[in-house]
Amino acid sequence: RKRVAVLISGRGSNMSALIGAAMDPSYPAEIVAVLSNKPDAGGLATAARYGIPAEGVDQRLFLDRAAHERALIERLDAYRPDIICLAGYMRLLTPLFVGHYAGRMINIHPSLLPLFPGLHTHERVLEAGMRIHGCTVHFVTDDMDEGPIIAQAAITVERGDTPDNLANRLLRAEHRLYPHALRLVADGTVRQDGGRAVIAESRGGTPRPA
Ligand code: GAR
Repeated sequence: RKRVAVLISGRGSNMSALIGAAMDPSYPAEIVAVLSNKPDAGGLATAARYGIPAEGVDQRLFLDRAAHERALIERLDAYRPDIICLAGYMRLLTPLFVGHYAGRMINIHPSLLPLFPGLHTHERVLEAGMRIHGCTVHFVTDDMDEGPIIAQAAITVERGDTPDNLANRLLRAEHRLYPHALRLVADGTVRQDGGRAVIAESRGGTPRPA
């Protein structure tokens, strides 16, 4: 099984979905650690309750972003992760960090990328008059929310939706999508090939977009 470390900043409901999936011994990944830039992130306590090592690496204790990232890398690498999952990790990552985990770091974003990168996606989807919304799991590259897409799920926008209930409905789709996407990466079905996510050659013949 692939060793997975999860990075969070908050309640960690997507992290919990990954932990739940990995409880099945036939799932191709195990969650070996959960780290947060916020020591009071609710998800750290949740992870600890599951017996998973959970650590805060408090960003306020470091002089700058680079120093914090170096500390995070050091703590993460102590768990020898094969794959890093960002799950509501809300701090921008620099090329230093992204490069260290190139091709083996994935993120879940609450929109159908490349639409609506960035923050406040639910508000912006409603403002744009979208009739569908969704979530994306993608490989992390230097450009925020722009890496190769691994998997997506869509939901419909209903009359009377508010940003909050749209977010809650989408969250349920995220909890199904993220374990599915991590499985694809962990079992080697999908890998990053430059700017694309491709179905591995051994399984699909000619590489093609995932
Ligand atoms: C999720 O909706 C996730 O897609 C989003 O934050 C939420 C975290 O919730 N991520 C981003 O906005 C990344 N820019 P969770 O802590 O309960 O998983």
